[in-house]
Amino acid sequence: MKVYAGLAGIPVVKSSISYIDGQKGILEYRGIPIYELVQNSNFLEVSYLLVFGKLPKQTEYDQFLCDVKNNLNVDSSIINFLKDIPKDTHPMKVLQSIIPILSAFDENKDVLDEKHHYSALVRLLGQTPTVLAAWKRISEGKEIVEPDFRLSYGENFLYMLRGEKPEKAEGEIFDKCLILHAEHTINASTFTAIVVVSTLADFYSCVSSAVGSLSGRLHGGANERVYHMLSHIEKIEDIPKIIDEKLSRKERIMGFGHRVYKTYDPRALIIKELLEKLIKIKGDNIPLYQKAKEFEKVALERLKEKKIYPNIDFYSGVLYSLLGIPPEFYTPVFAMARISGWIAHCKEYLKENKLFRPTQIYDGGHNIHYIPPEKRE
Ligand code: ACO
Repeated sequence: MKVYAGLAGIPVVKSSISYIDGQKGILEYRGIPIYELVQNSNFLEVSYLLVFGKLPKQTEYDQFLCDVKNNLNVDSSIINFLKDIPKDTHPMKVLQSIIPILSAFDENKDVLDEKHHYSALVRLLGQTPTVLAAWKRISEGKEIVEPDFRLSYGENFLYMLRGEKPEKAEGEIFDKCLILHAEHTINASTFTAIVVVSTLADFYSCVSSAVGSLSGRLHGGANERVYHMLSHIEKIEDIPKIIDEKLSRKERIMGFGHRVYKTYDPRALIIKELLEKLIKIKGDNIPLYQKAKEFEKVALERLKEKKIYPNIDFYSGVLYSLLGIPPEFYTPVFAMARISGWIAHCKEYLKENKLFRPTQIYDGGHNIHYIPPEKRE
């Protein structure tokens, strides 16, 4: 028997939700290329596509949008809880702890009932942005901003977070970033979600567990670290030296490398295009952007030979910083977008549910006897 470390390359499910060709840099959601979705669709429509397996008809979309918007407000008990916890709690921890509590307000409790799938989806899509924005405002000692139902999904989040209405184009760019983050086959957090659903725990527990998994720096936590790495660079001329020092210390370059992509992560290319669009609105004299471009160029020269390319996290932090989103909210934004992907997988997995129960190769001792505390060395 052999241990498959990290289950690398081991299929654990059959899935029709998304497809990656890591050699060619292809990503499709339900067979549609990611680039086409970013160009033509919006985040909520893509969420519907992922979870229900088809693009919605107009009436289906209108109903879905209405159900998400009807769930934008969170109960006052949640806001009171947020006011009571330490202000320096990381928003990923806040998200991970609030999500299971949201289940208390959902009357559809049975994970095997389709009604639970729908109500958990619209509640989590509706309330996660509100909880995150409220937490940002509360942690800064500011008044929370109520959701504005007239705004688009992306605009409303930026509005609640910043306290002022964003430009329409900012909302659109942000919405497209959410599409890019919505789904990515069986990665660590999605695997976590299906392991939890295999026990027949409800979707709130699945999503909350997935949030914990996403928070690690080898997964979703990389975007925040990229931002800090770039912000700490004082002069652009220092970049080659900084990268060489990191590599000689065998340090990982955050925002580079991917378990599956051995070429450019297609999402990294699209997010760079979106960033360039945003730069046109904001003006190109943005030091963080200049540093990111130079860093990407030099790091790529050093790492290309090993087939290590920028991933989506390399530019997402730079883009989010220009939208006024603080670094500690980059990974929570990723989580907010991934909810539909996680739920799509949980729903799909339940169709032929099998409780996950891998095995191990035991390599410890046997017949070892108990030693009383006073005799221990
Ligand atoms: N910087 C420098 N070297 C790297 C990097 C990197 N970012 N990534 C991999 N390598 C090197 C390793 O040091 C190793 O070198 P060696 O063979 O000389 O020892 C080689 O590439 C293979 O490394 P593995 O760990 O086997 O590669 P794996 O495919 O498992 O790594 C991972 C994937 C974890 C994402 C890695 O590339 C990494 O740590 N990247 C930085 C963190 C990051 O950006 N994470 C976000 C991923 S995307 C996402 O979750 C949305």
